[in-house]
Amino acid sequence: MLSLSRIFEEHPNRRYIMFGGKGGLGKTTFSAATAFYLAQKGLKVLVFSVDPQASLSDIFERDIFGKGPVEIIPNLFAQEIDADQHIKAYQNEIRQKILDMYGMEEVPEEIESYIQAAAAEPAMEESAIFDQVVDIVMAEDYDYYIYDLVPLGHALYYLSMASVYDEWIDKITELRQEMEEFSKVASLIKRKKESEEDMILKELMDIKYRINTSSGILTNKEKTAFFFVIIPEEMALLDTQKAAKLFAAYDVPLCGYVVNRVIPTELGQQRIPDYLRNRLEMQGRHMKRIDELFGEQVLAWIPEFERDVTGLAMIERMAEAMFGPNADPIKHSSQMDEGAHS
Ligand SMILES: Nc1ncnc2c1ncn2[C@@H]1O[C@H](COP(=O)(O)OP(=O)(O)OP(=O)(O)O)[C@@H](O)[C@H]1O
Ligand SMILES: [Mg+2]
Repeated sequence: MLSLSRIFEEHPNRRYIMFGGKGGLGKTTFSAATAFYLAQKGLKVLVFSVDPQASLSDIFERDIFGKGPVEIIPNLFAQEIDADQHIKAYQNEIRQKILDMYGMEEVPEEIESYIQAAAAEPAMEESAIFDQVVDIVMAEDYDYYIYDLVPLGHALYYLSMASVYDEWIDKITELRQEMEEFSKVASLIKRKKESEEDMILKELMDIKYRINTSSGILTNKEKTAFFFVIIPEEMALLDTQKAAKLFAAYDVPLCGYVVNRVIPTELGQQRIPDYLRNRLEMQGRHMKRIDELFGEQVLAWIPEFERDVTGLAMIERMAEAMFGPNADPIKHSSQMDEGAHS
């Protein structure tokens, strides 16, 4: 049996799937093909993208941007998050809170301009996306969640942001708790403020819980399978070794490597131009090196196809290259116990 499908079979609890790696190596392609493979086994899958330049629309040849989860084939849902839409919703929420809290008819102009300015911050887009991911993942609507990740550096940024956020909220929470002690004393004098403080503290705790849950999933070996995409080229290999160290530092549970874009070696037995023969020889050296470096951790060697992978027919071909044809269905909790998620 192909090693990649064995991973899924042996670890049915790893329901959060990620393909990481440098730009353009095949993360989106593998995400879509894996979603296709699992959906065909009858598992309910969401493949989603947090990239503003997401390309799930391209690969599925459907405009899904900002439309929520769109069913592509039975059991296969794809979603591209529209950060702007979420920033707008978030702004409205803030406006509403201000109106409710202070019993106003409309938001004062100074506050409105502040809300507008905050939305222009790049960090706002990041956190809008982050927030949406937390919502999606915590809803527990699917058997599998496949994150179509952004290129490597950026993915690391997300992970680091989660831990920065976490520290920051810890500090604030601590401060708030200290202040609560004070305010207990102070409440003898000033009673009204207390409940407001409680509300803020509750909200912070809530944010903290959400962040811990989502970043906890990202780094949880039991629940997450992270695959590293590489190609048989010199530069890619050097970068991969560096990246693997970084990921280890962030406790990303690396499951193994998938080598993409392998020029079929059988071509060497045919009459081919020197150009291609040279490429094949170089590739052979890099494949040997990959084997030495990663050995058993290499889960699949995927051929370079004669055309781009777009549309369901090509996605199906890719799924077969990755997982093999007609593998047996995975035994999964939701199939044994209809609709329940553990
Ligand atoms: N094995 C393959 N054979 C032929 N074309 C491929 C193969 N793998 C990927 N491609 C093509 O390479 C291009 C890049 O792939 P893909 O979009 O999956 O990369 P990515 O890692 O998601 O890129 P980004 O970092 O920009 O998100 C796409 O046009 C895809 O169809
Ligand atoms: Mg991509």
